[in-house]
Amino acid sequence: MKKGKIILIFILSILFSVVVVFSASAYFLLVHHYKGTQINNPWRVEDEFKLQNIATVQKQKDKDFVILNLADVQMCDLEDFFNRKIIYKEISYLIEQTKPNLITLTGDQTWSNENLISLKSLIGWLDSFKIPYAPVFGNHDYGNTKNSAVAELNYCCELYEKGKYCLFNRGPSNLGTLVNYVINIMEENKIYKTLYMLDAGYEDVITTQQIEWFKWNAEGIKQANGGEYTSAMCFMHKPLPEYSVAYNKYRSGSAEAEAINDVHVHYSLSGTMQNGFFDAAKERGVLDVVCGHQHGNNFTIKYNGVRLTFATKTGELGGFYDDGIVNLNGATSFVLNDDGVNINNIYVDRKQFFINNNNNSFNW
Ligand SMILES: [Fe+2]
Repeated sequence: MKKGKIILIFILSILFSVVVVFSASAYFLLVHHYKGTQINNPWRVEDEFKLQNIATVQKQKDKDFVILNLADVQMCDLEDFFNRKIIYKEISYLIEQTKPNLITLTGDQTWSNENLISLKSLIGWLDSFKIPYAPVFGNHDYGNTKNSAVAELNYCCELYEKGKYCLFNRGPSNLGTLVNYVINIMEENKIYKTLYMLDAGYEDVITTQQIEWFKWNAEGIKQANGGEYTSAMCFMHKPLPEYSVAYNKYRSGSAEAEAINDVHVHYSLSGTMQNGFFDAAKERGVLDVVCGHQHGNNFTIKYNGVRLTFATKTGELGGFYDDGIVNLNGATSFVLNDDGVNINNIYVDRKQFFINNNNNSFNW
């Protein structure tokens, strides 16, 4: 065979291989959808409440219990492939700074439809710290449109369920959203704090069924707690309408709203979630509500006895807000002790962080 022909066949073979690999990758990343198994476990209000079904984490007596909240991490398989180490360096830094006993994630751990590789990677990375973590879903975890993500929600659930340190629990199948669960922080044998982890779904709603299920849990825990509601926190993705009410009252100087922490509001605060949850929560021991979703906002405002926290966005993937004065990038921590809950924002100035902590020894 002539040398020219051999070279031509060789080039064509290479081209063919590239096309096959590219098509297969595109198929698995963009077209093929990983659907998990849907679990049918409906809840009814007359069901017996069992305290032992609730996940627990232990708090040491007389020691702080630190919750580090990561909001809107927003990883994506394609766009962020080469930038993933940025978010990981930042999360490592935030963990180093706060030494958390628990990490909560208030949704939008991924964004766009290409979420498979990044979610697997994030779960593996979180597991490497050997610290319990508890995610809720945000609108972007569902994909660009409802259930359009490559790894669809039930599959994401299965990935989280495989997470060694993940406290995630799928919850009942008939609440209107998929992932709702409860965690009790225990001090010795007593419930120290109850955490309600609520899925606001793609449409960003707290459904009537979710509210009823929340009440059922709170009443069941109350019975197990000697007839008193436990002190509680709620974690969800999108702010309740009361966030907007509280912020407007704070702006107008009303004594009804007290700023507990920094107040940065760059995005319009127009909660669309169903009203009614706030009152149900307030009456049942909830002292803190924590949400994410709007990267240009963070604050803690106490309103009607409840601290409403807009958590600081974590990392620069998916866009964060920098108006030249504030750099809304980092995380929010909650330090629980017998004095109550101390809320702090940890800001990460990328350049500052890079120069101060890493001695210019690596490239972002
Ligand atoms: Fe969101």
